[in-house]
Amino acid sequence: MKPVKVGLLGLGTVGGGTATVLKRNAEEIARRAGRAIEIDYAAALDLELARELGLNDVRLTEDAFEVVNDPEIDVVVELIGGYEPARELVLMAIKNGKHVVTANKALIALHGNEIFAAAQEKGVMVAFEAAVAGGIPIIKALREGLAANRIEWAAGIINGTGNFILTEMRDKGRDFRDVLKEAQLLGYAEADPTFDVEGIDAAHKLTIIASIAFGIPLQFDRCYTEGITHITREDVTNAAELGYRIKHLGVTRKTEQGVELRVHPTLIPERRLIANVDGVMNAVLVQGDAVGPTLYYGAGAGAEPTASAVVADIIDVTRTLTADPENRVPHLAFQADQLSDLPVLGMDDVETAYYLRLQAKDRPGVLADVSRILGDQGISIEALIQKEPEEGASNVSIILLTHRVQEQRMNQAIQAIEALDTIKAPVTRIRMETLG
Ligand code: HSE
Repeated sequence: MKPVKVGLLGLGTVGGGTATVLKRNAEEIARRAGRAIEIDYAAALDLELARELGLNDVRLTEDAFEVVNDPEIDVVVELIGGYEPARELVLMAIKNGKHVVTANKALIALHGNEIFAAAQEKGVMVAFEAAVAGGIPIIKALREGLAANRIEWAAGIINGTGNFILTEMRDKGRDFRDVLKEAQLLGYAEADPTFDVEGIDAAHKLTIIASIAFGIPLQFDRCYTEGITHITREDVTNAAELGYRIKHLGVTRKTEQGVELRVHPTLIPERRLIANVDGVMNAVLVQGDAVGPTLYYGAGAGAEPTASAVVADIIDVTRTLTADPENRVPHLAFQADQLSDLPVLGMDDVETAYYLRLQAKDRPGVLADVSRILGDQGISIEALIQKEPEEGASNVSIILLTHRVQEQRMNQAIQAIEALDTIKAPVTRIRMETLG
């Protein structure tokens, strides 16, 4: 059978890894796919780099539009990243009747609804396994492996850079900026690393997970996003003393009122497997009504782990090239006309437990004031520690763990606590999940 011809857009970290894996494993890939898969045409900004990858018999261009408009190409693999021109290229490829594979989470989270509708109309596939958690096949697991279940919730460490930073801060007492620089050198971080540390990258991925888990349209703009830049070494140590780890978690949960969709630093009990996922590794914990909890773990970033997911998608597309579009696996797991209008909840309506760190004057009555305010909001305290003041310091740190409460009540309590003249700095609040 004629080989499938791939047009590759982008030869950076993931593009290079994809070329390498396709070449190294060509024989096994062909045995799996039923025919050979060849990179026929590639677009890159640096053609010298392309030659260094040994792409000798591949046509090369600096203009990605030439690839998507080339009649020889069956599958366009978009590895440029970012919103534009990726969106325009993908829509053009679809218009030209080509199947698309992409690792671009930003593109799918923001423009996926438009892209899938265009693909549906044209009868082509858009595959995006590499967009979430790098090499972990979480899209396939949710969309196919867990298709029998009502998914109740999913929680994931889905940004390798952020996890690497928190791990190094905890284990080696390293400074935030210093670790971020290393993540950039290792090729883990996004082009704009604020996407990693402010939770935007994780929010892109969580938006995709939620849509596939619950059959709702992609709604990135409804995702609550909080980064890790305000987490101090003191918080990391306090959490450890209380038996918790701080992880930058994406959490999505289906409740009767709607879907929770939130990314924020989170205390989780250290006995949970996911609390022990360290460094650049990712993990996603999924609770299904039939299967119970399942955990997916692996490399969430890097050239070959991400290429593993990209190439698997190319193989999937190759296998189904002749299948009737109506009978392919739907893009968002549920049939396109069966998506639900269940609302995504605002943070005010979300219920979690909390870790609070207060900087207070070491004076009688402070704790009484704080517990009265919490009591007034119906917030129950689970644990409380008052730290010894530093030598010569007049302020003390008070650490509180609370039971679960609605976020709007906690906001009111924090506002009242911060208004006390004995409280000397904004309250640090980190949400907690038992993930039980
Ligand atoms: N910047 C991302 C991360 C790369 O650190 O997880 C993979 O999406």
